[in-house]
Amino acid sequence: MPKLIQAEDVVTNFYTYEGVVKALNKVGLVVDHGATFGLVGESGCGKSVMVRSMMRIVQEPGQIEGGKVVLFFNGDQQQEAVDLLQQSEAYMEDLRGNHISMIFQEPNAALNPIMSIGDQISESFLFHRKKEMSKKILEDLSADDCRVFLPLKKLQQTLYTIAADNPKSFILIICSKIPILSLWQRRLKREALQRSIDIIRKLSISNPSETVHRYPHNLSGGMKQRIVIAIALACHPMLLIADEATSNLDVTIQAQILELLKDLKKTEIASILLITHDLGIVAETCDRVGVMYAGNLCEVADVEKLFQNPQHPYTKALLESVPKFSQEGRLRSIDGAVPNLVSPPSGCRFHPRCSHAMEICKQTFPEEIEIEENHMVACHLYVK
Ligand SMILES: Nc1ncnc2c1ncn2[C@@H]1O[C@H](COP(=O)(O)OP(=O)(O)OP(=O)(O)O)[C@@H](O)[C@H]1O
Ligand SMILES: [Mg+2]
Repeated sequence: MPKLIQAEDVVTNFYTYEGVVKALNKVGLVVDHGATFGLVGESGCGKSVMVRSMMRIVQEPGQIEGGKVVLFFNGDQQQEAVDLLQQSEAYMEDLRGNHISMIFQEPNAALNPIMSIGDQISESFLFHRKKEMSKKILEDLSADDCRVFLPLKKLQQTLYTIAADNPKSFILIICSKIPILSLWQRRLKREALQRSIDIIRKLSISNPSETVHRYPHNLSGGMKQRIVIAIALACHPMLLIADEATSNLDVTIQAQILELLKDLKKTEIASILLITHDLGIVAETCDRVGVMYAGNLCEVADVEKLFQNPQHPYTKALLESVPKFSQEGRLRSIDGAVPNLVSPPSGCRFHPRCSHAMEICKQTFPEEIEIEENHMVACHLYVK
């Protein structure tokens, strides 16, 4: 499968009063076109910082200080490979929500409590799809059955022609500020609302044309998360990043949302990057898995391989800490805790907790090696 996005050696640090938190220590990962990539690891190991770095939305006092995040348009490596870390903020603004979307754990934080659901989904269309929607409105206007007062129709046609050419045109900005002229946008808003209703319908929300007029506080947690997904999917992104998107929901709703994501992936989205603590979800939904520990990616493999034949001691320990039906006696946990990333352990960051630790692990950072086809491990137990 062709690559969709490839992060290489990403370094992100947080400059805090306690010192520099070395949150990402040269992390790389690849998400292929059409694949679902799962990113797992204990709390604090850098999963969220990794995806936020890829989207360039790391919060203060964080800084991305190295690496590349290459996005391959059309899945073709030769043409249109863009390093997102080198692009302008305006480029990234256009990319976010358009080509790459992200959903977070807390739907309340993502939704605006004083805006109707319809207006919130419409915003995405109005921001990214003004050009395309203006073209459609122009076609509707020129259709014979469109009965509008002629001078008004001419004025609308002129403004929509400008919008279809350059939606950020100065003339349109001026017109939007003058009350009587700002009415030209009504058709555009109507079109955006109609598209919002269509997308809500796809997410199996009952009564979509009524739901668009409701506010977040009128909806349940599961419904709100569906709306957040609707906003993320509005513009058919190539990549949907879901950071613990279902963790706050009860198990049945969680299962419904994951089923929904699986279905939508076939039609609406190209690839998914899924962050979760739940290895069961990974086993069910992902094609490939990356295991992170203390700011490093320690193992990456196809999902069956990783579960059947884990190689890194941390991956093995992580899998042993998951309850199984057949298991008797106590559940094993990983001794110790994720280290403080202000002063992480030298060499392999896992060595203080690793039962296989050798002298070299304390001194030298392990390079990633491919032990089998498409199975990468960064551990001194394995040599090239
Ligand atoms: N705003 C911040 N200021 C300082 N340090 C931060 C900040 N955000 C994240 N970090 C640090 O970066 C490291 C990685 O955090 P991150 O949120 O990516 O973990 P995570 O793997 O997503 O954990 P969880 O599973 O709990 O969401 C942690 O050590 C954390 O303390
Ligand atoms: Mg997180």
